[in-house]
Amino acid sequence: MLSRRAFLRTTGVLGATAATFDIEPILAATDAVADRPAADVAQDEFYWREIQQAYSLDRTLINLNNGHHSPAPRVVQEALKRYLDYENQDPVYYAALINRNIERVRRALAAEFGCDAEEMAITRNASESLQIVQDGLDLKPGDEVVTTDQDYPRMLTTWDQRSRRDKIKIVRIQFPVPTTADDLYQRLEAAITPQTRVLHFCHITNLTGQLFPVARLSKMARQRGITTIVDGAHAAAHFPFKLHELECDYYGTSLHKWLCAPVGNGFLYVRRDKIAGTWPLQAAGPKQTDDIRKFEEIGTSPAATHAALAEALAFHQAIGVDRKSARLRYLTMRWANELKSEPRIRIHSSLEPGQTWGLATVGIDGIDSRALAQFLMDKYRIIIVGLVGGTPPAQVFDYQGLRVTPNIYTTQEEIDTFVHAMRDAIRNGIKA
Ligand SMILES: Cc1ncc(COP(=O)(O)O)c(C=O)c1O
Repeated sequence: MLSRRAFLRTTGVLGATAATFDIEPILAATDAVADRPAADVAQDEFYWREIQQAYSLDRTLINLNNGHHSPAPRVVQEALKRYLDYENQDPVYYAALINRNIERVRRALAAEFGCDAEEMAITRNASESLQIVQDGLDLKPGDEVVTTDQDYPRMLTTWDQRSRRDKIKIVRIQFPVPTTADDLYQRLEAAITPQTRVLHFCHITNLTGQLFPVARLSKMARQRGITTIVDGAHAAAHFPFKLHELECDYYGTSLHKWLCAPVGNGFLYVRRDKIAGTWPLQAAGPKQTDDIRKFEEIGTSPAATHAALAEALAFHQAIGVDRKSARLRYLTMRWANELKSEPRIRIHSSLEPGQTWGLATVGIDGIDSRALAQFLMDKYRIIIVGLVGGTPPAQVFDYQGLRVTPNIYTTQEEIDTFVHAMRDAIRNGIKA
């Protein structure tokens, strides 16, 4: 059998660039654990130390807000800088050369996430990907869009603006957290009327990581002639899935979150038969009607950012999404298992296997979550976000908590410090 390193070489993902040097130790470390189950490797600090070394971090801070966007490993940063230097020698000439290679990035992304390359548009982020669809579908006054109160604020604002502009109706369902796939399916199905044209929901939410039954919902919607838009901002490169198995019509994500690509990367998957009927956000000519590249017509923009995606993908594949998701789950369960028996602790995310990985939310009864986040920063130098619900068009939810998002470079000691800090807040209050 080919070793992982040999496999990446034969597939060409590991190119003969200067960056190869930096991925080597990761490949060697992965080769050494390749025959062990991912859940076992998840606890192996020797393996993860190799991954930790691949980043240039400020370890005087503990970053538990990787859900916002993540640092890129050094190998990716170096690729970005290299492409920028190259481009700057003569931007018109060299950017065109770099952009010719973007077709290879498209194919690599499509292969990794499980779709045809002709269904994969490379964008700047999930906001752009999803707004292309939200503003690019033909909808008429009275048409209905069903979404949830816990979808992402910018996406809710986009629908709100569209309803003011085009007189469509936005129906937002509520759900408790954590909840089950059946509950979510039933709530969304019950909200459908003969006027429903679109179902828009998250793969996992940004608030608690609540997982949605994407394939079941998408199949049900298709049978009724309803279009599905899935917000995968927090799912891609976080846990394993393949786009063609999800059955949805559109899937938008950011790649500067869990893929650790340079900021300004995302993708939009459009099911092939939906491409022609979707207007791009920035106009494209009629010859491009059927071409996924019409969604990339954004004017002059850095070639380097998207080119460095290739390196981010190679880094991700050198670890493997199974090992990565198992490690993220291990880090979450490490703090959750310690804190869950504390009487004032409220965990708002499912701790069941296959439901939660590196994004989970926890609150302390009687302590405001934003004040708690500030306390953790002031006393423990922990970067974390406190969640509080709002009113429409913002997200609406009735719980409070800290969203805890470690990443693959997070150490056990950093998680243990978080547990200690939470116990300090519970025992001594946050004023002290
Ligand atoms: C669920 C969800 N959707 C969309 C976005 C938008 O991502 P970006 O700001 O990278 O466009 C985010 C960002 O956190 C998100 O969590």
